[in-house]
Amino acid sequence: MIARVCICTSFTVYLFNILFILSTIYVDCLSTDAQLCQMCEGAVQNQSAVWSFCQAAEGRIEGRCCFHDAEENILGLDLSNCSLRQVEDLHAAAAAVIIDLSSNPISNMSDFIFQGFNNLSHLILPINLECPGGNTSWDRVDVKDDTRLCEGQRNACNQTGQMSLDCPENSICMPYGPGFSQCSCVHNFHGYKCLREGNFPMLEVLAILCASTVVVSVLLWITQRRKIKDISLLGSPGSW
Ligand SMILES: *[C@@H]1O[C@H](CO)[C@@H](O)[C@H](O)[C@H]1NC(C)=O
Ligand SMILES: *[C@@H]1O[C@H](CO)[C@@H](O)[C@H](O)[C@H]1NC(C)=O
Ligand SMILES: *[C@@H]1O[C@H](CO)[C@@H](O)[C@H](O)[C@H]1NC(C)=O
Ligand SMILES: *[C@@H]1O[C@H](CO)[C@@H](O)[C@H](O)[C@H]1NC(C)=O
Repeated sequence: MIARVCICTSFTVYLFNILFILSTIYVDCLSTDAQLCQMCEGAVQNQSAVWSFCQAAEGRIEGRCCFHDAEENILGLDLSNCSLRQVEDLHAAAAAVIIDLSSNPISNMSDFIFQGFNNLSHLILPINLECPGGNTSWDRVDVKDDTRLCEGQRNACNQTGQMSLDCPENSICMPYGPGFSQCSCVHNFHGYKCLREGNFPMLEVLAILCASTVVVSVLLWITQRRKIKDISLLGSPGSW
């Protein structure tokens, strides 16, 4: 009876921990979305590039963001004229198609900010900044008034020479944002350097997880039981 209670409680604690961690991550994601969209005053500016894009995509505008009706991903982000001096983290907009950072006094920006932005095909920058990944990572680079337009992201895997990665066997090169690529395992391979064949061993992993939970519970039960015995021995001198 005690054993069952112990296993149940420790398992419940375990589950609650996992739920807690997941919910923290979820809330974190939501709040970075909101932070980015509310980062500066006003909404997506009328007649701006992001505004036109959002009209055409029948999206919904919230603050400085354009969302697809059904999805929570940021499709368009308009941070123009926001007095930004630095841009450090845009990962909440990693699925964006269009991003406008023009009319900001940004002095320099790391290419890594756009790592993983596979869908990005329109990027509007202050004129002093180069397109991320350089001109060769884009189909067209235009200068217009005080902005630089980077249009049509090129697939870094198809670049002749420089960037194309030599991927190990059983993997293929995949684009990973302007100027970036990564090696992805082909179907049925996984693990380090894609050397393992077969599907990911989900059952085995679950079995190990369950087994370790049971072992921990049993250990807890044994140690706790000893304590309970000690307490009952200490607590019952009157009955000698
Ligand atoms: C922006 O456009 C909408 C609809 O086209 C209009 O109702 C609104 O007044 C405009 N806002 C500004 C600031 O021009
Ligand atoms: C930028 O924002 C300021 C107020 O914050 C406004 O007066 C100005 O007209 C804006 N400039 C552009 C190009 O939208
Ligand atoms: C921007 O420039 C400053 C000074 O020149 C440097 O310290 C900083 O690391 C640079 N930031 C990025 C993202 O390159
Ligand atoms: C990239 O292209 C733009 C516009 O064609 C040009 O002004 C700029 O100097 C080019 N940058 C480099 C590093 O070649």
